[in-house]
Amino acid sequence: MISGQKLCAMILFALAANMASAFVNKCPQPTAGDPSPKAFFYSHPTDNRYFITCAHGYANLMACPTNTFWNNEVQTCTGNAFNSLMPFTPCSGGAAKLIPHATACQRYYNCSQTGQQWNRYFGKYEAECPYPQLFDAQELRCKPYSEAVCDMFRVAAKDPCDYLANKCGSAHCEPCSSRMPSCIGYKDGLYQHPRKLNSPYKMHCVSERLYQLLMCLPQTSSRGKANTSRTSCQVMWQADI
Ligand SMILES: *[C@@H]1O[C@H](CO)[C@@H](O)[C@H](O)[C@H]1NC(C)=O
Ligand SMILES: *[C@@H]1O[C@H](CO)[C@@H](O)[C@H](O)[C@H]1NC(C)=O
Repeated sequence: MISGQKLCAMILFALAANMASAFVNKCPQPTAGDPSPKAFFYSHPTDNRYFITCAHGYANLMACPTNTFWNNEVQTCTGNAFNSLMPFTPCSGGAAKLIPHATACQRYYNCSQTGQQWNRYFGKYEAECPYPQLFDAQELRCKPYSEAVCDMFRVAAKDPCDYLANKCGSAHCEPCSSRMPSCIGYKDGLYQHPRKLNSPYKMHCVSERLYQLLMCLPQTSSRGKANTSRTSCQVMWQADI
């Protein structure tokens, strides 16, 4: 297993205790007689690119290696050719018209969506809430990040560039991190744009989300000289939070 996925699973593991999960924990629970139950694996309810492992009674999301799929009968990830299961195909045969994405809380599948994909990063039927909104798995709609319910498997992205719609669609495109800097690691407040240090651009961070991009220019004094200790900021972009 790739270490990033392990790390991710560990973080999720830590969050799990406080979060309501839409998934049933089928893990054998430790008891006095059996304080560490033996290894147990089971299928992800909607996406067989993933599976669930158990540790000390907690469920951890794991991802199968690329192009392999969880096969519950043989309890491992297997290649498609040898797999009794088909790859996850959203919107096939189900009654659900809006399906939460298995791992990204900002994404969902819209089975009514027939037209062109939003950009090349989107899979078929895949859709996404406007940054920084999240898709509430219970109400099945995009909601402000502070109100949407995510669970231990559906991680809420904070970096605007984790939203597929913000990624570059063509070669002639300013990189996302330059257009929409990440506020991860910043306390609420106004900061110099980290990718444009000697520029008038500032970012306004709220809850580690990019809330506003501003252009702050020195105010001109009555004598027509720029006064660098006084700036006035103009909002260039603002998130819908
Ligand atoms: C789903 O797709 C349909 C058809 O394109 C559209 O009218 C509808 O607004 C979409 N719903 C959501 C929640 O994205
Ligand atoms: C520049 O702005 C500061 C703060 O408002 C003010 O105290 C100062 O007098 C201004 N200087 C000039 C040259 O206008």
